[in-house]
Amino acid sequence: MPTPLQGRHIALGVTGSIAAYKALDLASKLIQANATVVAMLTDGATRFVSPLAFAAITHRPAVTDLYDPQSELGIDHVALAEQADLVIVAPATANTLAKMAHGLADGPVTTTLLATAAPVLVAPAMDAHMFDHPATQDNLAILRERGVYVAGPVSGRMASGLVGTGRMVEPADLVGHARLILGLTGDLSGRRLVVTAGGTEEAIDPVRVITNHSSGKMGYAIAEAARDRGASVTLVAAPNSLPDPVGVSVVRVTSAADMGSAVTSAVENTDALVMAAAVSDWTPADVSPHKAKKGSSDSITLELKKTEDILASLSSPGLVKVGFAAETEGLERNARAKLTGKGLDLVVANDVTDPGSGFGSDDNRVTLIGRDGEAERLPKMAKYEVGHRILDRVAAILTQRP
Ligand code: CTP
Repeated sequence: MPTPLQGRHIALGVTGSIAAYKALDLASKLIQANATVVAMLTDGATRFVSPLAFAAITHRPAVTDLYDPQSELGIDHVALAEQADLVIVAPATANTLAKMAHGLADGPVTTTLLATAAPVLVAPAMDAHMFDHPATQDNLAILRERGVYVAGPVSGRMASGLVGTGRMVEPADLVGHARLILGLTGDLSGRRLVVTAGGTEEAIDPVRVITNHSSGKMGYAIAEAARDRGASVTLVAAPNSLPDPVGVSVVRVTSAADMGSAVTSAVENTDALVMAAAVSDWTPADVSPHKAKKGSSDSITLELKKTEDILASLSSPGLVKVGFAAETEGLERNARAKLTGKGLDLVVANDVTDPGSGFGSDDNRVTLIGRDGEAERLPKMAKYEVGHRILDRVAAILTQRP
């Protein structure tokens, strides 16, 4: 299943900030996600970036003049506004935000904004003092109140050399915001999901841990796919190097015990739990408070005790439970045992020895086994796609539940 950007019309308003160069990257990312993008530039924006650059990326002329008979807006200035599934203003200057808040329509960007019924996402970018000014804050409050989605700004070093809050949200994150907004009406709208990801770490002493090869990619892909279908998602993430997905509530944990308590509190009032995390089955019986010294002996013995099985111990009524079975042999037999042993609705079996899938890979080859025992053997596909296949099954189970 493609992302919610596929085939959607995005009107991209670019206003006069140095961050306008990042709007080119945003346009490129939206095009790569198979959206149709029409860029509209204010006069200020054209001082920083060329309309030609946007035209080259979007394969459509960029709109710069409200009265140009050649431009799409010139022929019918509401056509773009009507066609758009989403209007993004990135970067949005304090000036444009002020015009939006007060209903001015003095150029292609503000005119489209006034004429559209589509959702609007703005990414403010300005000097920190301009952002902090009560006028800008009041204007943003008006826009939020009206249902405009405001992403950022974030803090960091700005073009002026000052450090403060005023940097535009990065294009990759704006794509996440766009997916979130366009996905809100998806088939999981109103559903709450908890997803786990990553490999837990069990401390041996303050510098050493026991862990596994999980990269977290599978769980993150499921969380993003669920968000893209309108679900409200909590991601309980064991240590990994992946950035927090936009619009997903991320709870970072370290050990199996931490994950157990985070999941137990997160699943209250939740429709489904998808345990993609590789949870350690064993943890050191004693954790040394100081770094254990090498000493003179040639070997040491580490005593391990079993961790609690999070999935097996949870029995929240009505909760759809999905588990993974990471196997190196006897794939379907072992997966079926986990399905019944842990009281699951669905088990996702994957052979972690399969080259090009599993740990660290962007792809996965899995077999889905539900309560009827039938095995749905999926071909190798992107983890995001696997996430959707799992969610198709979750959505079907949820619709059968009272
Ligand atoms: N799991 C869990 N709590 C644990 C261990 C595993 O909730 N302490 C979950 C995993 O997140 C996964 C499923 O149980 O969804 C199966 O995990 P897996 O590691 O494949 O199997 P185990 O149950 O640990 O059994 P074994 O290691 O013997 O294969």
